[in-house]
Amino acid sequence: MKVEFYKHNIGQQDIDNVVEVLNSLFLTTGEVVNEFEDKFSRYLGCRHTVGVTSCTAALHLSLLAYGIRPGDEVITTPMTFIATANSIIHAGATPVFIDVEPDTANIDVDLIEGAITSRTKAILPVHLYGQMCDMKKIRQIADKHHLAVIEDAAHAIEASRDGIRPGELGDAACFSFYATKNITSGEGGAVSTNNEEIAEKLKKLRLHGMSKGAAERYFRRYEHWDMEMLGWKYNMDNIQAALLLNQLENIEKYWQRREEICRLYEEAFMYDSQLACLKVLPNSKSARHMFTILVPPEKRDSTLWQLQERGIGVAVNYKSIHLLSYYRETYSYKRGMFRIAEKIGDSTITLPLYPKLTNEEVQYVIKGVKDVTTSYGKV
Ligand SMILES: Cc1ncc(COP(=O)(O)O)c(C=O)c1O
Repeated sequence: MKVEFYKHNIGQQDIDNVVEVLNSLFLTTGEVVNEFEDKFSRYLGCRHTVGVTSCTAALHLSLLAYGIRPGDEVITTPMTFIATANSIIHAGATPVFIDVEPDTANIDVDLIEGAITSRTKAILPVHLYGQMCDMKKIRQIADKHHLAVIEDAAHAIEASRDGIRPGELGDAACFSFYATKNITSGEGGAVSTNNEEIAEKLKKLRLHGMSKGAAERYFRRYEHWDMEMLGWKYNMDNIQAALLLNQLENIEKYWQRREEICRLYEEAFMYDSQLACLKVLPNSKSARHMFTILVPPEKRDSTLWQLQERGIGVAVNYKSIHLLSYYRETYSYKRGMFRIAEKIGDSTITLPLYPKLTNEEVQYVIKGVKDVTTSYGKV
């Protein structure tokens, strides 16, 4: 049997929506993007959404919109994809890592205040694998120290914690519609915020700092545009938005199926002494973006390869990024500095998780994992 690591969920309705745009006049940022942004805001319960080309772009622009600049420091964790910390560097600032909690792999909020200096301007929590960080505590700390909070919600569109959604307590929440995300346009992203001024600024920053986009220039009486600030070319287009509309409508249905699959995995692995799962806290709805298991570090790579030999698609999300060459060389990060992130990064394996996964495939993955992990003791 072959179980792919990921299969997208694009169906005929999604294809029809894209064809409709392709048969229309306007391919770049226009009405369909506006429609998606409105519907995404409504889904989240947030006032504004600005569609961009990736979550990396969303993070970069959010940091700029909140005035992060060279010399500033932004606190985040190394247990994430490099996009999180790279976006801080793109804004000219320095990523300051702190360690994560062992049970969730999310930022350890008790370590935040110890990392704050006179240069700290923002906190960038990552809602890893779909479970939100403790936004109530993060907001309190940020308010006390006058810091912005930019949420990396790439994994967490459907999540909530203590009834709080992404973008509700943060100053901005950034989402990804990358090829393997819960809803996807191949590449794509968005920022959601309740701050109208920031949303307006983000709309300019995503398009070179221009005061008017192409749709505003074309469909109304011609008005000249100005360049008000230095922006980037990060605008979402109508084709990407068309691909997302129907997925957004079905997002809870897709989540439900991933939740079922995660529960099957959790039940199967709960009493397994050779491996561990991260916890979803009782006050938390995980968006269930990834399902990861933790195995002994010295067994991780051989386990990955044995699962692959059985036709099971696997991945590593993530090795702690402070140990990557660029981060070691540029910021003198070393092994031993973030022990929990390192341990998770050395132990983690991501299993297949997507709505199209059948129960038969799930059972095949479970059996594969059990067979490999129970053979650890044997030569
Ligand atoms: C935690 C996290 N943040 C940010 C990103 C960046 O997303 P994008 O590929 O849309 O730029 C990713 C993408 O995989 C991610 O996993």
